[in-house]
Amino acid sequence: MSRERLAALLSEKRSYPPPVHGRTQAWISDGEEYEAICRRALEDPEDFWGARASQLLHWFKRWNRVLVADEARHKYRWFTGARLNASFNCIDRHLISGRRNKAALIWQGEQEMDVRCHTYQMLYTEVCRVAHALSSLRIRKGDHVALYMPMIPELIIAMLACARIGAIHVTIFSGYAEGGVRGRIQDSRARIVITADAALRAGKIKPLKANLDPILEKCPSVAHVVVVSHARLNNVSMKSNRDVWWHDLIDDFTLNSDFPCEPMDANDTLFLLHTSGSTGKPTGIMHSTGGYLTYAAHTTQWCFDVRDDDVYWCTADVGWITGHTYGIYGPLALGATTLMFEGVPAWPKPDRYWSIVEKFRVNILYTAPTVIRSLMRLGEAWTERYDLSSLRILGTVGEPINPEAWQWYHKHIGNGELPIVDTWWQTETGGAMISPMPYATKLKPGSAARPLPGIDAAVMDAADTDGEEGREVGRLVIRGPWPGMMLGVFNDEEKYRSYFSRFGCYESGDGAQVDEDGYFWILGRIDDSINVSGHRLSTVEIEAILTACPEVAEAAVVPMPHSLKGEAIYAFVVPREDAPWSEDLRAKLREAVRRDIGPLASPERIQFTRAMPKTSSGKIIRRLLRKIAAGAEDTGDATSLANPEIIADIVRGRKNLIQGKAEDAPAEKDQKID
Ligand code: PRX
Repeated sequence: MSRERLAALLSEKRSYPPPVHGRTQAWISDGEEYEAICRRALEDPEDFWGARASQLLHWFKRWNRVLVADEARHKYRWFTGARLNASFNCIDRHLISGRRNKAALIWQGEQEMDVRCHTYQMLYTEVCRVAHALSSLRIRKGDHVALYMPMIPELIIAMLACARIGAIHVTIFSGYAEGGVRGRIQDSRARIVITADAALRAGKIKPLKANLDPILEKCPSVAHVVVVSHARLNNVSMKSNRDVWWHDLIDDFTLNSDFPCEPMDANDTLFLLHTSGSTGKPTGIMHSTGGYLTYAAHTTQWCFDVRDDDVYWCTADVGWITGHTYGIYGPLALGATTLMFEGVPAWPKPDRYWSIVEKFRVNILYTAPTVIRSLMRLGEAWTERYDLSSLRILGTVGEPINPEAWQWYHKHIGNGELPIVDTWWQTETGGAMISPMPYATKLKPGSAARPLPGIDAAVMDAADTDGEEGREVGRLVIRGPWPGMMLGVFNDEEKYRSYFSRFGCYESGDGAQVDEDGYFWILGRIDDSINVSGHRLSTVEIEAILTACPEVAEAAVVPMPHSLKGEAIYAFVVPREDAPWSEDLRAKLREAVRRDIGPLASPERIQFTRAMPKTSSGKIIRRLLRKIAAGAEDTGDATSLANPEIIADIVRGRKNLIQGKAEDAPAEKDQKID
């Protein structure tokens, strides 16, 4: 994060008390109750988490111990010896609790008239059918099932069917291109892939099955592909003995046959979800059944104050952890009504979100700062024509929210009175870790407030990063275990251990600062990740794609501040001697990234340079490149550089690039500095 951004955040002095209206019905109704819970959770965490697990979930068998910790290996096992099933908790138990005919899932398709609604009973029927169908394809407990699907009800049904069997779902964001999908299927060795003919996005048809076919040639683990006919394409190629239509497959199973839930050990894996790694390979984060589900239900209930008659809308794609925890598992475990939207915020017009809020009388809206910023730009006229009075709580996630966007959200969507829960968390943490409680926490725009009860967050290595005097700025860590924490990294013990290697406790990879009230101000990633529009991407992965192009000798990818996306990708590229520094090459490099990872990873800027700033041992100093990408002309002390003269060259190159000129005169290019 740039100094300017940090200064802007910290100069934000406004604060907002929690609303009084509605407080008496809230799960946590005021600051005093909240403080008492925090104290209790700190004094006896096992008692606290055991009580929450009992209140929130149905267990087939109770645990022997709430927590078994192997500190040396950083292994934490929650609710050991207990048995439960996530599908049972998200569906079956609601059938006998008076919610049988309540809407579990409301789905709004991209087309206005395309709406589907599943009651808990209907969800049960469909999930059992699909569980039978997967079972007929020999899917058993512990098998991996990859889901490369658009935002359609079948995605949720497939996830809950896997959970019912005890199979492990591996969801792959439908916006990923070839390399992203292949890497995830190969890493998980999925036996089945469930997909759709196509996804619909902003009026366009994006074929998924056709994208998948060439990828599968290099994925020998995949025995079957199940295809949902969503866009009703009629030219889908289906490979015999491997591919089967979803509707044909489930047609064999009647509407009234139960599929019994597998009693899973609390520490059996519920799902695997990949996130960007610090190497070129995606990191498969494993989440447990008991700890994860407890934490999902617990945080959904307290952070969003979910009540039985609420319509709850988390806008995140299910391909990301937010969609898992707050689109599906959290709300359904609580027996809530969750809304799923297939489309995008500004298509066909920028009023889509607000028309959906009005149409379904949404009470809780949880979205990303990028969405808020992009809609804010388009003006209030789009919000004013809708009745947003059903809204009670607003939330944000995925990236730091700038105070300006916070204020707009608060004023124009929240009518100047609704609480905004800015939830900080990660794929690895399973659920929110630092967040306000809507009726108990004073809000400061831009801060995620304080760690949740039972979460021991802290900032370490204060001297490490540049912050304001008198305040701790450093690395955000979590000092003790919590039920939602990852079980491990699939097939990569070393990667799992690396999270704990610097401080002996969980290190998030984010920078943060704590103010005098104990409020956390998240400053973004300080590791090899870039957060583009709330999507975490690995710089190493993008660099690997760029350097695989024959014209490229070296590449270094860093974040640059971006008014809409939060951060965007800035790539410094050293072309090989005979390669032209041309727009064609830039286009080719962008296309390579789009084809491999997907459009979201396409570099915003590609700057050619003769050399990278390096130490005498040949290591690229990315810290300096970050500063240059952010617009700094003076990068400070460059004495540790083997080639300090390159800095002025790169700064000049950036200026030229922004002004639309070539980075450097070709004559200068010949004097290669190394
Ligand atoms: O940098 C933080 C940012 O998103 C990262 C986690 O990304 P991912 O694992 O994809 O999960 C995203 C959804 C939970 C974090 O390391 N981040 C997430 N929430 C916030 C945030 N940054 C600032 N404020 C937040 N509320």
